[in-house]
Amino acid sequence: MLTTYDYPVARIVSETDLDSILVGDSLGMVVLGYQNTQKVDMEDMIRHTSAVSRANPPQLIVADMPFLSYEVSKEEAVRNAGLLVKAGADAVKLEGGQEVADVVRAITKAGIPVMGHIGMTPQRYLKLGGFRVVGKSDAEFNSLVEDGKALEEAGAFSIVIENTYADVAETITRSVSIPTICIGAGLSCDGQVLVIHDLLGLSDVRPYFAKAYVDLKSEIKKAVSNYVHDVKSGEFPGKENYKDRAN
Ligand code: KIV
Repeated sequence: MLTTYDYPVARIVSETDLDSILVGDSLGMVVLGYQNTQKVDMEDMIRHTSAVSRANPPQLIVADMPFLSYEVSKEEAVRNAGLLVKAGADAVKLEGGQEVADVVRAITKAGIPVMGHIGMTPQRYLKLGGFRVVGKSDAEFNSLVEDGKALEEAGAFSIVIENTYADVAETITRSVSIPTICIGAGLSCDGQVLVIHDLLGLSDVRPYFAKAYVDLKSEIKKAVSNYVHDVKSGEFPGKENYKDRAN
């Protein structure tokens, strides 16, 4: 699984053998320039989910439910999950474990598949005390395992496990029968997810658990510098780039 936020990248991704696309609320940070994901709202998620869906990718499209779109009431959560489906999502993802089990149950009952997200949950970074690895203490470890079980019991079809110790993710994976998808949680999950800006080398700050497979930032800088050079030197536009009425 990889995040994708817009039409052109979704077109490219659709030609790969990637299994699923996450329209993640990480778009708030990597696309919109916010410091965290809490400012992302339903309008943002609907706009980006629609753009990805218009690329018609063969992959499963999972859309993130943004901060405060599912915490206030189950009714609001179902309505908002429905709006993401109408925008083109095949499933929604929301953060939290035992405390959101009722919400997961309500959305699933409405016929919308739900992916859980436990471990380091970025929308709850204030309560967590920052963006940190979770699961060190026995209490946190046990609570995460219970979170996984509660999500499965509530009807989630899969669970993202973010930024926890490898043995914690392994124990959760063994405790549930639905697929787990890791990010910063080791090798024992059933799948992996990355933020595409990290993979493409476009992020300003890349977390320790992400890997860049290409340095697009340098490539973009090179292309822009070459363009500026060519415009200043008169090499662009070339004869092939404009029409002359005489010819
Ligand atoms: O929003 C996102 O990109 C995510 C992934 C980090 C799993 O939730």
